[in-house]
Amino acid sequence: MALSGKRILLIISGGIACYKSLDLIRRLRERGASVRPIMTKGAQEFVTPLAVGALAADHVFTDLFSRQDEQDVGHIRLARDCDLVLIAPASADLMAKMANGLADDLASTALLATARPVLAAPAMNPRMWAHPATRRNAARLREDGVRFVGPMAGEMAESHEAGLGRMAEPLDIVAAAETMLEDGEKPLKGRKAIVTSGPTHEPIDPVRYIANRSSGRQGHAIAAALAKLGAEVTLVSGPVAIADPVGVHTVHVERAEEMRDAVLAALPADIAVMVAAVADWRVASAADQKLKKHPGESIPTLALTENPDILKTVGHHTMRPKLVIGFAAETQDVESNARAKLERKGADMIVANDVSPATCIMGGSRNSVRLIRHDGVERWPDLAKEEVAERLAALIAEHFHA
Ligand SMILES: Cc1cc2nc3c(=O)[nH]c(=O)nc-3n(C[C@H](O)[C@H](O)[C@H](O)COP(=O)(O)O)c2cc1C
Repeated sequence: MALSGKRILLIISGGIACYKSLDLIRRLRERGASVRPIMTKGAQEFVTPLAVGALAADHVFTDLFSRQDEQDVGHIRLARDCDLVLIAPASADLMAKMANGLADDLASTALLATARPVLAAPAMNPRMWAHPATRRNAARLREDGVRFVGPMAGEMAESHEAGLGRMAEPLDIVAAAETMLEDGEKPLKGRKAIVTSGPTHEPIDPVRYIANRSSGRQGHAIAAALAKLGAEVTLVSGPVAIADPVGVHTVHVERAEEMRDAVLAALPADIAVMVAAVADWRVASAADQKLKKHPGESIPTLALTENPDILKTVGHHTMRPKLVIGFAAETQDVESNARAKLERKGADMIVANDVSPATCIMGGSRNSVRLIRHDGVERWPDLAKEEVAERLAALIAEHFHA
């Protein structure tokens, strides 16, 4: 399924294993992927562009300085217009070029120009694979984010030698490509996130409480969006009337102090998105029994005390997540208040929104936010809260892959 509709840029470099690339093209296409081939000069000594093109049902790109293909800077287009770059076979020579950032033919230039995931299936003589130069190059490429499938141990086709160096079988390469594409859709896989959402209820007595108009819709949508990108999410939710998001571990709390405890219990984490509208104050000493109205008695006054500042606590914690994002609900001076909050609370980013009643944001289904970072402000258009969540989750994923 992962390959269906995916565009594979297949780079074939020179080695005996090129004959297996013909079968690989068929296997990829059987699974619904389209294959756009680039062949090095070396590869064309082993299999013909005619055979590769016929199996791929596409033009075969061979020449960096092609007048026809480069009319629209074709090497950049090839590098960009694909979901995965697959090198099979990856020769010792091409790996050496890649490891050193060389770009002296179409394959190496496209590889240097691409920002897409790269999977390499090396194939070479065991002595070439074991050579310290190739070891260094492979290690460097791994550091650069290139993934490998194979090589395998076995008999070499051309030399009657045995050892590590055979190209992985086409079906194993297909499986590795599938895994890589699935991972690409889950860029936050392996990351832990804590999200808070909703209001808090601060008791006055057993039946009355201080609350606010937060519905939890924005925080819940962010938790769901992060989970969709593969993050392991703990959602700490105040009392809300909406369902727990699917695929998220939800902890229900009432009061700010409970929320803080639940957030701290969920550390360590990579990401904290503090969306909840936490009450700034609570009643200093909530009554154990319902406060009664007695004729002739004076009206009670509520003495308030400060609640814990959860964002600030997380922002300055010894186990501070790598990325701390706070929300600022303001009714005036939105940007300057949010900027002050960014500094004070030790956050990396503040998502500010104007919650004046006229905006209908608090409790509503849409949101219009400004992203305040240390280096500037980004204004987003009016969006559904789910869209804000998706954008923010994508931005978080980008942060971890930059
Ligand atoms: C018969 C023959 C088989 C070869 N097999 C391989 C091989 O399996 N792997 C490899 O890295 N190089 C192999 N080579 C050497 C490469 O073809 C050579 O290094 C070439 O410059 C690679 O160019 P390319 O990386 O641009 O395709 C072979 C050469 C010959 C003549």
